[in-house]
This record gives sequence, C-alpha cells and structure tokens, in this order.
Amino acid sequence: MASRYPASWLDELRSRSDIVQVVSGYVALKKAGRKYWGLCPFHGEKTASFSVDAEQQLYYCFGCKAGGNVIGFVMEIERCSYHEAVELLAERAHIPLPQMVEDEDYERRRSRRERLLQANRDAARFYHEMLFQPAGAPALNYLRKRGLSDAVIRRFGLGAAPDEWTALTDHLLSKGYTLEELSSVGLTVVKSPEKEGGTVRSFDMFRNRAVFPIIDMYKNVLAFGGRSLGNQQPKYLNTADTPVFNKRKGVYAANLLRQERHLDHVILVEGYMDVVSLTQFGVKGVCATLGTALTNEQARLLRRFAPEVYLGYDGDSAGQHAILRGLDILQEEGIPARVLDFPDGLDPDEFIRRDGAAGFASLPALSPTAYRLRRLKDTTDLSDPEGRMKYARSAMELLLSVDPVERSTHMKALQLETGFSMETLQEQLDSLRHSTAPVAEKPKPPRPSVRKSGPAAAPDLAAQETLLSLLATGQIPKDMVEEKDFEDDELKSLYMSLVAGASSASVMDAAPDDEARSRYARILLSPTADSTDQLISMATQCLSRIRRAACQKQFDALQQRIRSMDPSDPAIPSLLMEAQEVQGKLDKYK
Ligand code: UTP
Ligand code: MN
Repeated sequence: MASRYPASWLDELRSRSDIVQVVSGYVALKKAGRKYWGLCPFHGEKTASFSVDAEQQLYYCFGCKAGGNVIGFVMEIERCSYHEAVELLAERAHIPLPQMVEDEDYERRRSRRERLLQANRDAARFYHEMLFQPAGAPALNYLRKRGLSDAVIRRFGLGAAPDEWTALTDHLLSKGYTLEELSSVGLTVVKSPEKEGGTVRSFDMFRNRAVFPIIDMYKNVLAFGGRSLGNQQPKYLNTADTPVFNKRKGVYAANLLRQERHLDHVILVEGYMDVVSLTQFGVKGVCATLGTALTNEQARLLRRFAPEVYLGYDGDSAGQHAILRGLDILQEEGIPARVLDFPDGLDPDEFIRRDGAAGFASLPALSPTAYRLRRLKDTTDLSDPEGRMKYARSAMELLLSVDPVERSTHMKALQLETGFSMETLQEQLDSLRHSTAPVAEKPKPPRPSVRKSGPAAAPDLAAQETLLSLLATGQIPKDMVEEKDFEDDELKSLYMSLVAGASSASVMDAAPDDEARSRYARILLSPTADSTDQLISMATQCLSRIRRAACQKQFDALQQRIRSMDPSDPAIPSLLMEAQEVQGKLDKYK
C-alpha cells in the first residue's frame, strides 16, 4: 500500500518553510509591490522576471514560466525528488519526519500510474540484464560493433530484447502485472480474442532488438526505443503514446541532463545513437527528440537545463529542413539557439567517430541568421548573375531583422560573395525597410500555437483562468461559480481544490505535471483588484463571457446537426425548438 506524509504535517512544514526565506538562500530578492523579484535561477536573464509571492507562498517566472510552491522550488533548484525536497525542508526547519500514513484513496489515485511506471522499470531491468546473458549476445555484439563501451551501455541502461515471442511478457506476468497493464504501456501486443478465434494471443512488442530506455528527469522509465540488429525494417520501433508517455513532451536522456550542472548549452540531436555516442566521446548535455520534430513543450523543457540550445541534426536534407523548423520553435519560445553544421551529410555519431572529440569541439556553432544565409546560398547558383542578385535580395531581407553588429559582419561576406558594393547592399536594406515597414522591423511574429501554459488562446478560456485567479483570493462567493463553467480537466481540478479550501501552495502539489504546475502558478499569481466589490464585478463579467460562449457553442452544434439532417427527419421540429430556447438564452447574455 502506498503511504504519504500526513496532510497536517505537510501544512506545518509549509508554514515553517517561508518561500521568501527559502528562495533567498539561492536568489537575491527585492520587494516591489506585493511581490519579491529576482533574477530567475532557472534560465539566464539580465532583468528580473522571477517573482515570489509571500502571501500565496508561490513562485513564478514570467520569462521561463517555471512556477510552484516551496517544495517544487527546492526540487527544481536542488534537482532532487519530491521526497528529498521534503526531507531537506524538514531538516532546515528542524521538524522531525512524521510517521507516514497509509491511504487507500491515495493508492487508488496514484497506483495505476505508479504500477505502469514500475512495469516499465522492471522491463528496463530485464532488458539490461538480458544483455549479459546468452539470449542477449546478438544485441550486445551489435552495440559493441557500433563502438559503444560497456561503461556507456550501463550509463544509458541499454538492453537486449531476446529473439523470442514472450520472454518479457512471461517475466512480467510472473511478477504480478496484468496483460492489460503490459499492453497499455506498449510492452506487450495483445491480439483481440475475436481475431484469434476466441483465445487471447499476446507477444512482446520488442523482439530481437537492442533496447534504449527513455527515462525522464525524475528517473521514471517512460518508454522504449528498439533498434533492429541489422537492416531489418523498421530500423527503430518506439513505444507509442501511453498513459505515462507523451513523445511530444519528453526528450531522450533527460535523466542525464538533469544531473549536469552549469551547462552553457544543451545539444539536441535526432537519434538515440547520436546521444549515446557523443556522450561516450565526452560531449556534455546531449539529448534527442523522440523521432518527432521539436515541439514547444520540448523547447521549454530544454530551457530548464541550459540557457542556450544547439541544434545538432543530421547533415542530410531532412535534418537540414528540421533545423529551420526547430529554429522557429526556439525563437517562438525566446530561447537563444545555434546550429552545429555537420559536413558531408554525416550524422553526429558518424562525424565524431570520423573526426573525434577534437573535431567535434572545433565545429562552428552558427547563429540562426548565419545558418539561414548559408542555406540560402546553398540553394542559389552564384555563378549566374541572376542568382547573385536573387541571393543578395533574399539575404538583405533576412538581415532586416538582425541587430546591426551581426548584420554588418554578414554584409561584408555578402559583398565578397555577390560582388555588390556595401553602398548598394545598404541601399537595398533601406528600400526594404521603407517598403515593408513597420512590419519588417519586427522579427517574425510567433505563430499562434495551442500551448497550455502560455496565455490562454480562446477568450472564454482566458475568462476561465481569470475567474480562477479571482476565486483564489477567497473573496468570491463560492456558489457563484460551478464546475461546469470550466472547460478542461486541469481547470476543473484547480476549481475543485480551491472551493474545497485548499491553499494555493497545496494546490501545486496536486498538479499532474510540470506544464500544469506552471499554468496553475501563472493563474494563482495573476494580479487582481483590491476591493471585494471590484473582485466580484470582475468575476461576474468573466462568468457571463464563459456562459455566453458555452451557449454559443451549444447553439452552433445544434445548427450544424439540423443542417446535416434529412429535411423530412421527424426529430427536426424538437431540435428547432431547442435551438430557439438556446438562442433566447444567448440574447439574454448580450
Ligand atoms: P536515423 O535514421 O537518423 O537513425 O533516425 P540513427 O539515430 O542515425 O540510427 P542508427 O545510427 O542508424 O542506429 C533518427 C531517429 O529517428 C527515429 C529514432 O528516434 C532515431 O533515433 N526513427 C528512425 C524511428 O523512430 N524509426 C525509424 O525507423 C527510424
Ligand atoms: Mn546514425
């Protein structure tokens, strides 16, 4: 049975661990208004965007969107687990650790996720042990043939899936996991009984492959990648998304990144082998996206490990295309980036084997602009006067949004490459500036993206978040608002915690993941008005916006449904009546 700290003891711990004092141990804070401000310890910055709210006992960085309560802060800054953070704070406050309480409800809430993670952990251990058994010899030979040392194999916990149908499944069933659990984490493929004539057939997802466990920064084994031992396709087999794994959110080797300190930059590569191989050659801070293009979530995750990201994608054309896309995402998230440019179409693994660690260290790290210019140059024919003109024009367009110092460096090179004089290039720049001003002065506007922890996209979602920040002041009558006023599960659950009287700080501990924690912190720390009347009137406005939007959606859905029906359908009259009613409500809101 799972056990947890007694809630009253945690309250005591929090009340004796003032967040301002704890944070002050790491960050110089200054009071301004209701909050304390300092330089964020989680991302490099020169102006303070890191805030601590003494009243709510929360921190939030407006730059990198890290946020949480005092326990979360210690976890982040000390890079430790929840339990370690709690113990550290208890020690600091001289509070003895309590008797843990057994809690069935807690078990029910936690156990599914924990059992699934435990199944993955047991699978990783099984694969790793297999590597050094006869059944794993082919995989071990394969990894050694690719030049991996036993030390790096152990460091990454690499493993072998034997060439058998049910080796892992049998092993995990004997440990008490159910087929349903094994299939939901993607370790076992379960054929449906109908297809197989009544008997359920099941077999291991990974067979006859070298296995790369994907481990997050809290050391949870989330998923696996399996490399075939030769040319069999598919080359890599990966765990699909499961209840404990979302490939858009994680990166490979996050567990090792977290242990690194004071990294200047992380190096993002494409493949598992690239990460393992570069690490073996002593390169620090390497990780990979999991067979997908870089996402905004991953970019934000990377920012927590280092202030800058280097893209080290393959030198082939797919890799080069992915770099442009990756640079856009990083720019959108405001993360400084550089590009490692591998020659001769090599991938990082092939390159470091050919040119060694020294060759790797002397690779130029191009600025995004330098890289984009290089791509432009590579795709134009400079031996042709037409081509040189085209190149000069597009290059100057690119340079419009670059700072003058970097621009002048590029313009000098451009002068040599195209034969146009500095004056001509400058004139081109001026004319572009006038023809496209004022839009062109700004760097590319960020694409609108659906991001949970950013500012809410839809106006009614923004109103829902504002409403919650108003509720968090404790001055809004609770019966004004209902659970169904909130659209998504995260907001619903924040609402439930708030009406149950949970403190802002304790709400944080219940957040399902880092993204949610960041979102909650942003909501709970939003500035609010001072008088109760003002707060209530703001809440009323939010509510009418939310309920109107809900009504509108209902109305649109009804209309859509009626339109798609056969005009003679007998259900139409009653649907029309319903639509009229909703329309009436809608008018009231307007
Ligand atoms: P690459 O084809 O560049 O693989 O795919 P690699 O890392 O160089 O692999 P080796 O050196 O041949 O072993 C890059 C990444 O794309 C995903 C994997 O995450 C891989 O590491 N991928 C590739 C797949 O998921 N499935 C595939 O079949 C191929
Ligand atoms: Mn490779």
